Amino acid sequence: MEYHPSPAPAERKMRVVVTGKGGVGKTTLTALFAYGCAREGKTVLAVDGDPQQNLAATLGIPPDRLDRIVPLSDQKAYIAERIGAGQERGGFMVLNPAITDVVERFSVPVHDRIRLLVMGGVRNAGSGCLCPEYTLLAAILRDAARLPADVVLLDTPAGLEHFGRSIAQGFSTVLIVSTGSYNAMMVARTLSRLARQCGISERVLVLNRMPGASGVCGGIEIDDIDCTGMHLLPDDPLVSACEPSVVPLITQDTPVAQSVTELLRRIGGYR
Ligand SMILES: Nc1ncnc2c1ncn2[C@@H]1O[C@H](COP(=O)(O)OP(=O)(O)O)[C@@H](O)[C@H]1O
Ligand SMILES: [Mg+2]
Repeated sequence: MEYHPSPAPAERKMRVVVTGKGGVGKTTLTALFAYGCAREGKTVLAVDGDPQQNLAATLGIPPDRLDRIVPLSDQKAYIAERIGAGQERGGFMVLNPAITDVVERFSVPVHDRIRLLVMGGVRNAGSGCLCPEYTLLAAILRDAARLPADVVLLDTPAGLEHFGRSIAQGFSTVLIVSTGSYNAMMVARTLSRLARQCGISERVLVLNRMPGASGVCGGIEIDDIDCTGMHLLPDDPLVSACEPSVVPLITQDTPVAQSVTELLRRIGGYR
């Protein structure tokens, strides 16, 4: 499969982080967004930042290939070379490593215009952890604007804390996904404020599986969510019928796939 890295200058790249409570539809949205952008002719780097690593299957990578994906956190030789902290460097770590070759070396092709980079798990991520694995992953996210793709998409486990300030530095748009439940909306509210404090200028509340939205959702005022835009994603029975892959949804251009296309066309216009 041929992959054409992006000619887009750093400031014109779409760098989108997808966040929200567990189970609200983040990974489904990330995968649909990746295919939607590819259909618009853009090259996409989808980054799986969730230690559960289910973005690959959601992007439609078949089971026999899934087993062969080695997450970045397990690329011990590369981590030792770039970050150090082993005996050979006398225990010192490089905190600002060069990471420009990481996509070429470790991402896997999914489609002509989509590549996937699986981060893997790091112990104590988000708690100021300074292990070499975390240092490498954080450096990549911080430098998202320089990664070779028109669109860099990051799927996260639940919050934004996981990679700390690196996400704020590397990403310009956050999609805060929520369903209509009180708990999901509470998480969305917290995340929207955190994202604003971090300086992420475009914050879109994506209400998933909701027939419509009035001023209140899950008992929380939508106005109370610190977002710059809102989008409704329809409930689509084909999503679970096709699980884990979203590819049939794209091929059949189902309502949820169409809605994601509308959403991605508006990104950049919510600021
Ligand atoms: N718009 C939708 N319509 C129907 N089912 C959906 C929709 N979005 C997500 N789902 C289903 O909800 C579940 C959780 O989605 P997932 O993307 O794994 O959430 P998260 O990544 O936030 O944990 C999955 O079973 C998925 O198929
Ligand atoms: Mg997920």
